[in-house]
Amino acid sequence: MADQIPITSVWLTCQRPARDQRRGRYVEETTKHPAKMLPDLAAHAINAYTAPGDLVLDPMCGSGTTLVEAARSGRDSIGVDIEASFTALAQANLALAAANGHTAWGQAVTGDARDLAALVPEGSRGQVALVLTSPPYGRRTHGVVRNAPGTGIHKRHYVYGDRSTGNLAYLGMDRLLDGWRQIVAGSMQVLKRGGVFVFTSRPIRRAPDDLIDLPGELFAAALSVGLEPVERCAAMLAAVRDGQIIHRAAVFALMAVRKARADGIPVSLVAHEDVYVLRRPRAGSGSPLGSGPSSLADAGGRTVPTGG
Ligand SMILES: C[S@@+](CC[C@H](N)C(=O)[O-])C[C@H]1O[C@@H](n2cnc3c(N)ncnc32)[C@H](O)[C@@H]1O
Repeated sequence: MADQIPITSVWLTCQRPARDQRRGRYVEETTKHPAKMLPDLAAHAINAYTAPGDLVLDPMCGSGTTLVEAARSGRDSIGVDIEASFTALAQANLALAAANGHTAWGQAVTGDARDLAALVPEGSRGQVALVLTSPPYGRRTHGVVRNAPGTGIHKRHYVYGDRSTGNLAYLGMDRLLDGWRQIVAGSMQVLKRGGVFVFTSRPIRRAPDDLIDLPGELFAAALSVGLEPVERCAAMLAAVRDGQIIHRAAVFALMAVRKARADGIPVSLVAHEDVYVLRRPRAGSGSPLGSGPSSLADAGGRTVPTGG
C-alpha cells in the first residue's frame, strides 16, 4: 500500500442527483460515457483552485465535464481523450455551454495523453493553472441501468471505447499505472509553476475480498514524477442530510453489496471518491504539505472540515 495522507475535508458534491446536476447543461448523449465525473465535483475543484480567466486542462476528459464546468466558471479549458467519440461529446457539451451563455474558450482534442505535451497547443504549455482529471477504474462500470417493465434490468454504455486505442481502461493495473505516470509527467510540463493537479479515484474490487487502493497507487505515481502533495479530500457520491448519508448507488452496486454480505464478506456501498490535490513545485519551495493554494472554506460553503 502506498504512503497516505489524511483526509482533511469532505466536499458535498452529490446533494443533487447526478442527472439533476447535468439537466439542461449536458447533451442527452452524455449518458453514453460510462464513468463521468460529477459536475458539482468539477465545479468545486475549479472554483477552489483557479481564478476566472485561468486555463484548466483535463488529459482524460471523457464527456467534457471539466471543460463545461470550467466554461461555466469563466475559465478556459483544454481536454484530451483517446476516444474520438468522447471528444466529439465533449465538444457538443462545450457548444451547449456556449449556447447557454458560457463562452470561455474550450477545446477537446483526440489523442493519447501519454504524449500530452505534444497534444497541447504550444502557447498553452507552462500556462495551465489546474489539471483536473480522473483515470478509468477498470474495464467496466455500471453505465446506464434501466429497469424496464416486463424485461427486467438492463445495462447500457458500461464499457469504454475501442480496446485497440491504448485506452488505459484495458491495459491492466501495471500498464495503467505506467500510463498514468506518463500522463502526470506530461501534466508537469504544461502546468505553470505552483499550478495545481487534482485527480479523483476510488478503490476497485478485483474480487469480493480483493480491494485495491487505486487512489493511493495513483498518488504514489504522481509523487514519483515530482508533484508535491497539498491535501486529500473526500468528494461525496451520496447526499448528506441531517447528519445522515443518503445513498445514490446504482442498483448493480446494491446487488453486489447484498451478494457479498450474503457470502460473509462485510463490504459497504461506496459513498465517496478520493480527491488528491498536488501541485507543480514553485522554484525553490520547501515541503508544501498543509499549505494549499486556497482555503476550501472559500469554495461556496460546501466543504465540511474534518479537523483531521
Ligand atoms: C473516468 S473517465 C473520465 C470521465 C470524465 N471526467 C467525464 O466526466 O466524462 C476516463 C477517460 O480516460 C480516457 N482515456 C483512457 N486512456 C486514455 C489515454 N491514454 N489518453 C487519453 N484519454 C484516455 C477514457 O477514454 C475515458 O474517457
